[in-house]
Order: sequence, then structure tokens, then C-alpha cells
Amino acid sequence: MTVVEGIVEHGDARGRTIGFPTANLPLAGPGIEDGVWAAQVRIGSQDRAVAAVSVGRRRTFYTGEGPRLLEAHLLDFDGDLYGRTMRVELTSRLRGQQSFSSVQALMEQLHRDVEATREWAAAHCPWLLGQGRGATVGQSH
Ligand SMILES: Cc1cc2nc3c(=O)[nH]c(=O)nc-3n(C[C@H](O)[C@H](O)[C@H](O)COP(=O)(O)O)c2cc1C
Repeated sequence: MTVVEGIVEHGDARGRTIGFPTANLPLAGPGIEDGVWAAQVRIGSQDRAVAAVSVGRRRTFYTGEGPRLLEAHLLDFDGDLYGRTMRVELTSRLRGQQSFSSVQALMEQLHRDVEATREWAAAHCPWLLGQGRGATVGQSH
């Protein structure tokens, strides 16, 4: 299992406008292949959640060498994670990166990714689902 840990950075905010906000981590060097994963996430030292995670260059929006990022869409979670330490365990690979012909097509795939992540979590860590709403995380600054 691959683990990535870092300080959450701001994205382009496009994720919020299409209904899939993400907490982004910079990726140092190679070592992780591009793809989409079901992941467990730890924020700070205690809070845990499940996330659908993308590692890649957002080829739908950037032609050529866009920045390589890890983007985590946390399930059942609303807080602002900017500036917090996030540890991501890339547990189950769902698919490779794709370049979609429209934002609509990307969104439809993201819905399927979230559904697959939810199914994976229901089988492996159901206690992490349905948590996070109204939690104190992200409200401390
Ligand atoms: C689960 C997941 C899968 C993704 N898969 C792809 C993909 O296959 N191709 C792509 O171009 N972008 C993919 N993305 C990245 C989205 O394009 C990106 O999150 C969105 O544009 C928002 O970007 P922003 O956070 O920089 O605003 C994925 C994002 C998530 C959360």
C-alpha cells in the first residue's frame, strides 16, 4: 500500500464548482503511478475519513505537462482542510487517469468513482462512512 503525507494545498476551486471539492497534496518525485484510488485518510493525528483519490495531471483540463497532484475527495465530510496535515493510504486502485471530452463526462465518472469507493469502504471500514459532518476538523482556523 502506498502512503502519501503532506500539508493540504488549495486547488483551482474547480472541484467545488463541479460538486467534487478536493483536498490537494503536492507530489514529490515519482514513485506513485497515476490513477484513481479508494483511500483511507487521516487528518492531523486523529480524524479519519474515506476518500476517492486522483493522482495525475488532470488531462481533461491541462494538455501536456500540467502539474502532477494528489487530489482527495473526502466522503461524508465538509470541513476546510487547507493547511492541515493529511495522510493518504492508497488502498484499492479503481482505474487509470483519463482525458474526458467534456466536464459532464468527467462528472459522471466521478460519481461512479465515489460509488465504488463507498462500496469498498462498506466492505473494509464501514465505521468511517457517515462520519465527519459537523465534526470539529477544519473549523479551528
Ligand atoms: C476521484 C477523482 C478522479 C479523477 N479522475 C480524473 C481523470 O480521470 N481525468 C482528469 O482529467 N481529472 C480527474 N480528476 C481531477 C479533476 O479534474 C479535478 O479534481 C477537478 O478538475 C477539480 O480540480 P481542482 O481541485 O484543481 O479545482 C479526478 C478527481 C477525483 C477526485
